[in-house]
Amino acid sequence: MLHITGDTRVFAIFGDPIRQVKTPELLNHYFVEHGINGVLVPLHVSADNFDEVFEAARGIENLDGFIVTVPHKKRAFELCDEIIPASANIGAINAIRRNGEGRFIGGMFDGLGFVQGLKTQGHQLSGKKVLLLGAGGAAIAIAHALLAEGIDCLFIHNRTKAKAHALKAQLTEHHESARVEVGMPEPKIADIIINATSLGMHDSDPLPVAEDFLTPAVLAVEIIMRPAMTRFLTVAEQKGAHIHLGKHMLKEQVRLMADFMCAKDTQEGTCQLNRP
Ligand code: ATR
Repeated sequence: MLHITGDTRVFAIFGDPIRQVKTPELLNHYFVEHGINGVLVPLHVSADNFDEVFEAARGIENLDGFIVTVPHKKRAFELCDEIIPASANIGAINAIRRNGEGRFIGGMFDGLGFVQGLKTQGHQLSGKKVLLLGAGGAAIAIAHALLAEGIDCLFIHNRTKAKAHALKAQLTEHHESARVEVGMPEPKIADIIINATSLGMHDSDPLPVAEDFLTPAVLAVEIIMRPAMTRFLTVAEQKGAHIHLGKHMLKEQVRLMADFMCAKDTQEGTCQLNRP
């Protein structure tokens, strides 16, 4: 059970809205399970007040770290004193920790958690042809992590094509030899299809991809947590495809963010940004 004392290290999650976040339950459970004397609380902060709250957080000395969610991920990247190298090219972060000198270090764990989640289920990415559906915040972090894993080719399909092209430009700038295509490949080309759109949260949502892409040779990957079985996964399973649930990504993200904020990670060095 959570037992808060004067020594308890404090963590927070800032977002707007905040009621829907699952991180407090998961991270506080993680703290209890690992015997960490810490607590994480949800704090409702609007974009208008975020800069002020971020600066004020520097003065709360037992606040060891915080998570940021929609709509703060990009602004937090700009406000941090340093960014870990793995996140330096993404332009957004989701966790911050205070180092020994009081500097705020940012890291993005959406993509790393995604890749780790696949690995814990025995799925390898190296050499694979991957179709990424979506080009929003989650898709961007996932795309960077996929290329870092040495996939063979990434196809990006998004309703708003300009965002897919912008993501391709960002990716190829940082991964020069990467094969990145905008648009749908022919069916049966992709080994892995990832739904990183918000389609599937509601029963009435259409499928994010045509059914003929979902063959027994495909691994269909979801990042939506609720419902656990989206229509994308249900249809993929009916068609004989392998499926991978959204919960695996979240579990690994929570572990990575907790280790990062509690400074148990082994990150070597950080990139200097903004402040001297
Ligand atoms: P997140 O941070 O969760 O990724 P986001 O940045 O708002 O959220 O991205 C949502 C993604 O779902 C985007 O790729 C979005 O497509 P657009 O870039 O065209 O907006 C996609 N998406 C949301 N609703 C959609 C719909 N009805 N049909 C197709 N794609 C949709």
